[in-house]
Amino acid sequence: MNLSYTDSIAPEDFMRLRNTVGWTPIAMEQIENGLRNSAKVICVKDGDEVVAMARLLWDRGYQAQLCDVMVMPAYQRQGIGRYMVTHLTDWLQSQLKPGWNLKLNLSAAPDKEPFYEKLGFRRRPCENAGSGMDKWMSGQGRE
Ligand SMILES: CC(C)(COP(=O)(O)OP(=O)(O)OC[C@H]1O[C@@H](n2cnc3c(N)ncnc32)[C@H](O)[C@@H]1OP(=O)(O)O)[C@@H](O)C(=O)NCCC(=O)NCCS
Repeated sequence: MNLSYTDSIAPEDFMRLRNTVGWTPIAMEQIENGLRNSAKVICVKDGDEVVAMARLLWDRGYQAQLCDVMVMPAYQRQGIGRYMVTHLTDWLQSQLKPGWNLKLNLSAAPDKEPFYEKLGFRRRPCENAGSGMDKWMSGQGRE
C-alpha cells in the first residue's frame, strides 16, 4: 500500500466509493453541491486510486455533522477509518475558541456503533438524549 491523503475528492470518485460500500446512488448535482459546501473533507488514495473518504458539515456555530465515512471493503480494519475521523475531529477541535461548545452529530450505519464508540461518540438513546432521528425527502415535479 502507498497511502496518501488530500482534502478533496472528485464527485465521480465519491460516487464510486458509495457504490463499493453498497450505498444507494445520489444525484451528481447533489454530490457536487455537498462536497463544495463541506467544512472539511479527507480523501485517502492508494497510489492513484481513491480508497476512502469522510467529510464534515459545520455551520460555524455549535452544530456539526460527520458524514460519508467510507472505506473500500478491501481496505477496512486497517486503521483508515479511525485516521480519517480523528483528522476531521482534530481539525474541528482546532477551530473552537475558548468558551465555545459544539455538538458533533452522526447517524451510524447498522452495526457501526462500536467503531464510533471507540472514537469517543456516545450511543443514543441514553440518559439525557433520545434516539437520533432522520427523514428522507424526495424532490417532486421540478427539474
Ligand atoms: C465503518 C468503517 C468506516 C470503519 O472503517 P475502518 O477503516 O474499517 O475502521 P478502523 O480499521 O479504523 O477501525 C478502528 C477501530 O474500530 C473497530 N471497528 C471498525 N469497524 C467496526 C465494526 N463494524 N464493528 C466493531 N468494531 C469496528 C476496529 O476493530 C478498530 O478497533 P481497535 O482500535 O480496537 O483496533 C468502514 O467499515 C466502512 O467504510 N464501512 C462501510 C461504510 C459505512 O458503513 N460507514 C459508516 C457510516 S456511519
